[in-house]
Amino acid sequence: MSRTPTYAAELRAALSRAMRGVDERELARVTEVLVARYRSVKPASSPILASGVHVAAYAAYRMPATHAALSRVLEAVADRGVAPRSLLDLGGGTGAAAWAAAGAFPSLESLTVLDQVEAALALGRDLLADAPSPALANATFRRAVAGAWPDDQADLVTVSYVLSELDEHQQDALVRDAMRRGRVVVVAEPGTPDGYGRVIRVRTALLAAGWTLLGPCPHEAECPLLHSDWCHFAARVSRSAEHRRIKGAELSYEDEKFSWVAGAAPGVLDSQVTQATPGRIIRHPLKRKGLVEFQVCRTDGTAGREVVSKKAGERYRKARDAEWGDTLP
Ligand SMILES: C[S@@+](CC[C@H](N)C(=O)[O-])C[C@H]1O[C@@H](n2cnc3c(N)ncnc32)[C@H](O)[C@@H]1O
Repeated sequence: MSRTPTYAAELRAALSRAMRGVDERELARVTEVLVARYRSVKPASSPILASGVHVAAYAAYRMPATHAALSRVLEAVADRGVAPRSLLDLGGGTGAAAWAAAGAFPSLESLTVLDQVEAALALGRDLLADAPSPALANATFRRAVAGAWPDDQADLVTVSYVLSELDEHQQDALVRDAMRRGRVVVVAEPGTPDGYGRVIRVRTALLAAGWTLLGPCPHEAECPLLHSDWCHFAARVSRSAEHRRIKGAELSYEDEKFSWVAGAAPGVLDSQVTQATPGRIIRHPLKRKGLVEFQVCRTDGTAGREVVSKKAGERYRKARDAEWGDTLP
């Protein structure tokens, strides 16, 4: 959880530059409005990012966090052997998933971000002036509304923190649209019980269509946490001084909780993707003298405790470095 996402520093520098000249008091005021809005689970009847200041506030206080979460997710997908050449990001806003994908997949050649809010797309384009990779620098930001996405096809389609703004019918339609356009689809949501619930619906839709899960689940049986808990992970995000000021926060970091699922269309697995994961770490590991204790989701569809002791040699050394969200060493 403490690993720094690729391009986090570059994104932060780009955001600082883009925020120069924006009234900080206004940013702080609108940030409060957005924090309250995102806490509510009501679908949006009009765009939440309603003005240029809303977009700036979103980018300043949320984008580092959604970037950190997506970086963890996409790195886990990259570990499965996925190496996309093209990315389509639906509801991509200011481009957090595009930045994360550029960091996770050096194979990417073309990145397209689609969103309904022109001001978000404009800020996303502006941030590209500091893009750390040529593919990201050439990313395209285009206006499109869910239900009327253009017919682009891509190796990877991301839907990052979008479903919560839609009703269930629109969520299902968006996931179908993503599956029609992508060979691999990744959906991430806030790591709350509601966010997990939406992710479970996506998981069910992927499996019903014969897709293979790439993560986080190491199996395709019912989620063992379904009736007792919720599957989520955390990414540590360091806060800049500006970020702390506009959020009225004191700590120099925050932990972004997220839930996610990724699937590959039939046939993709054979040609591209490596072995299934041996088990997913679903809580902070407890590191004690001579042993590491994990809560793990296992390949047999159960969840429970696994202990790796010093006697395990190399496996123990890997276990000491393993973090919540990693695969079990
Ligand atoms: C919480 S933001 C997430 C932005 C970005 N994906 C991220 O992870 O930072 C939700 C985004 O979804 C977009 N969105 C919501 N409903 C949409 C719709 N019906 N059509 C297109 N975009 C939509 C919003 O404009 C906003 O940019």
